[in-house]
Amino acid sequence: DWTSEIFADITIAELKEQLGNDKVVLGLSGGVDSSVAAMLIHHAIGKNLYCIFVDNGLLRKNEFEEVLESYKHMGLNVKGVDAKDQFYKALAGISDPEGKRKAIGRTFIEVFDQEAKAIKDVKWLAQGTIYPDIIESVSVKGPSATIKSHHNVGGLPEKMNLKVVEPLKTLFKDGVRSVGRALEIDHKILGRHPFPGPGLAIRILGDVTPEKVHIIQEVDAIFIGMMKERGLYDQVWQAGSILLPIQSVGVMGDERTYERVVALRAVASVDGMTADWVHLPYDFLSDVSNEIINKVKGVNRVVYDISSKPPATIEWE
Ligand code: XMP
Repeated sequence: DWTSEIFADITIAELKEQLGNDKVVLGLSGGVDSSVAAMLIHHAIGKNLYCIFVDNGLLRKNEFEEVLESYKHMGLNVKGVDAKDQFYKALAGISDPEGKRKAIGRTFIEVFDQEAKAIKDVKWLAQGTIYPDIIESVSVKGPSATIKSHHNVGGLPEKMNLKVVEPLKTLFKDGVRSVGRALEIDHKILGRHPFPGPGLAIRILGDVTPEKVHIIQEVDAIFIGMMKERGLYDQVWQAGSILLPIQSVGVMGDERTYERVVALRAVASVDGMTADWVHLPYDFLSDVSNEIINKVKGVNRVVYDISSKPPATIEWE
């Protein structure tokens, strides 16, 4: 729509003015916000924008390769960095949700700092912070909680002596998507469900291991893939799967099994501040459950989360 086109035009002009010939570094997450922020800045300063896309080993199945390809297609100057092992090492043995967020945040800063230093004379750090990020971190979880670790690379700007630029901070998610459409960013990127910065680490209750990541990636790929096939994906604000830290008894053939339980979650929302669980069709849930239990080794039970926010949250951690 025209308001978004005007927002984009004005913002690009302002960024040009503000950034001049300076070099800017930006961490892409694969999500809508950082992608739209990157494109606005790219239109303003072109190759002086250096994007870094870190594979933290906590992304969805095949996400890193697919999204990196889309970014290159969009003309972005982007470097993909495989830091999986570094993140798994930092997370080893940590079960507490905030502990995981901190370990991920710290590791992200280490990796990002190293990559950014390799680009000489960077002046700015760009972030895809949007308005609800600011409200959520201030009012909902308390001012000291660093919940948005992929936006909030706290400590980094000071450490690297960088100024911060956040072109989306007055917008809500819907607004970001329409600005993205005004910039003609592919629906494959714009239509993506929100995904937390700490990724699958906070969808694995308990400690994180590469084996657990693999299981939840497979489960999630089936759930999300089938939502897309049945035309349900675009009707839902956010969906995902959670690996529970328990085992349950089952039976396969004439053998007793004792394996993992996964929960599926799908919510309707406008801005993530409140959310209702989605009444996905029983037939669909039934097919997804069968597919998961048949295909994913180590899982013998699937449950569906029927809690809304508040009092529950969207994520389980
Ligand atoms: P909750 O679970 O608080 O989630 O209802 C609201 C929205 O925020 C996302 N979320 C996060 N995003 N870092 C992020 O970047 C985080 O630590 C984090 N925790 C939750 C969540 O996926 C939902 O979209």
